[in-house]
Amino acid sequence: MKKVVILISGRGSNMQAILEAKLPCSIAAVISNRADAGGLAIAKTYGIPTEVIEHRDYPDRDSFDNALANIIESYQPDLVVLAGFMRILTTRFVTHYLGRLINIHPSLLPSYSGLNTHGRALEDGVRIHGCTVHFVTPKLDNGPIIIQAAVPVLRDDDEKTLADRVLREEHRIYAQAIRWICQNQIELSEKGKVIFHYRKQCGYSLVSPSLD
Ligand code: GRF
Repeated sequence: MKKVVILISGRGSNMQAILEAKLPCSIAAVISNRADAGGLAIAKTYGIPTEVIEHRDYPDRDSFDNALANIIESYQPDLVVLAGFMRILTTRFVTHYLGRLINIHPSLLPSYSGLNTHGRALEDGVRIHGCTVHFVTPKLDNGPIIIQAAVPVLRDDDEKTLADRVLREEHRIYAQAIRWICQNQIELSEKGKVIFHYRKQCGYSLVSPSLD
C-alpha cells in the first residue's frame, strides 16, 4: 500500500475530503507550514500524525524546503499531496519529487494560475470555471493535468458562492486522482505527460448558461 504525506497551510477541507474518501493508501502524516492551520486539529481527530514547520523560522526558501524535505523523508512517502499548501516550492524540491508531488488548483488550468482565481474569473465574465489536479513541476500551476472539474458560473455568483461550488468539486476530484495514483492507474511519463491506464471516459458537455 502506498504511503502519502499531505501538506497544508490552512483549514484543510481538501485534506479532510481525502481522509474521508477511505483511499487505498496509508496517510502517513499531515505537515503544515503554519501552527494555526485549522486542518491540523482535523487530522488529529483522524489519528494522523501531524508536524508543523514554520516557514518564518527559516532565512530563505532553500533552507525551508530542505528542512521540509527532511521531515517528509522521515515518513518515506510514495506520494506528496499539496492540499492548500500556500508556499511556492523551490525548483530543487520540486525536481526531487517529480512524479510524486501533486497539487489542486481552484481554476481550469491553464486559465487563472496564481491567486484570486474566482475573483478574476468573475471579473472576466467566464461562464465556466472549475478546478484542476496536476503533477507539480517547477513552473507554477503548470504541470501535467490529471483531472479537472468544470462548474457553471451563475448569474448572481459572488466570490464566495463560486468558490463554494468549485470547492465541492475539488473534494471529489482530488480523492479520485489520489485513488488512481495509489492503484497505479496513472503515471507521469518521462516526457512529462500523464499516462492513463483506465478506460472510462465521459462525453457529456457542460453548457453555461443552458441552451433552453
Ligand atoms: C483550495 O481552494 C485549493 O484549491 C487552494 O487552496 C484552497 C485550500 O482549501 N489551493 P482547503 O485548505 O483545502 O480547505
